[in-house]
Amino acid sequence: MAYLSTTPERQAAPQAKGLSFDRAIRKIFPSTSKLTFNPLFKAVVNAFDVVPRMIYSEFRDLPPNHLRIRIGVGNRILNNQVHFLVHARDFWMFVFTSKLADAGSTIVDIGSGCGRWAHWLRDYNFRGRTFTGRYIGVDIDAEAIAWCEAHYDAERFRFHHSSHASVSYNQAGEATSHYTIPEPDNTVDLVVSNSLLTHVLEAELENYIKESYRVLKPGGAIMHSHFNLDYPPATYGTRHTFRHTIGNAQVESTEQPEAAVAYRTDYLFKVCRAVGFKDCEIVHMPGGAQHQPILLCKK
Ligand SMILES: C[S@@+](CC[C@H](N)C(=O)[O-])C[C@H]1O[C@@H](n2cnc3c(N)ncnc32)[C@H](O)[C@@H]1O
Repeated sequence: MAYLSTTPERQAAPQAKGLSFDRAIRKIFPSTSKLTFNPLFKAVVNAFDVVPRMIYSEFRDLPPNHLRIRIGVGNRILNNQVHFLVHARDFWMFVFTSKLADAGSTIVDIGSGCGRWAHWLRDYNFRGRTFTGRYIGVDIDAEAIAWCEAHYDAERFRFHHSSHASVSYNQAGEATSHYTIPEPDNTVDLVVSNSLLTHVLEAELENYIKESYRVLKPGGAIMHSHFNLDYPPATYGTRHTFRHTIGNAQVESTEQPEAAVAYRTDYLFKVCRAVGFKDCEIVHMPGGAQHQPILLCKK
């Protein structure tokens, strides 16, 4: 079944105007994520949360601003609360309307960050109907994992710390590319990741594709968003050029290769098919500046 457009778009959409303060910071630092580990930066950006939390009750349960900035939040350093709250809506609408999962499914989210995807499942309550399945988040960011463990019920939500190293996200990690998702074989309905493959080099990517296949039930699916040079992001040609080559990856910065990584469709399909995935396609919103293309395959 083909979803939305699968036609490569070689023309990048124009970059959004405005937000010049955020753009200036990002021009100076190739990875704003790395900056969020600095105690002074944390204190300053978290101070901007104090007043909005006092005014709007729906902002009080959000992770602190430095954790939100670390995961991207539409490149906004300030005033990113609404983005954090709404960004995953279309993703979950697509998942449930396409019957890739239901409210009782077991879902693995690799690179789960501070819960921008998970809070939709935790908070879903339509006249008593709730998410009754299991969600397993995996990330290399120990601080984000600890925050999620403290803010999600352990009955439905589990969070695991992956050992991968990353210049941008986990400098203390091991240099190994191998990580075993702590779930048994053939038990998961859907494995997702949002903007994880944009931060991993080939060895880690191939490990996660292999692991996704292992944990999935037959008929289960992966949905991994990524930067795809056949569907360039809106920032292509300005913030992103992906001009350095590391194997099959094109990276923005050789000092911090994991800050932004892009791949081509052919390579992604080859890796997926090699472990046994079938029906691979790229789900893409035509002209979609808001969402990265998604690699969707079935086991
Ligand atoms: C751009 S953020 C996206 C977070 C989350 N998926 C979201 O959309 O809010 C990328 C996430 O991937 C995590 N990450 C980076 N490399 C990783 C790896 N090798 N294994 C697991 N997580 C990784 C980072 O710590 C970060 O939380």
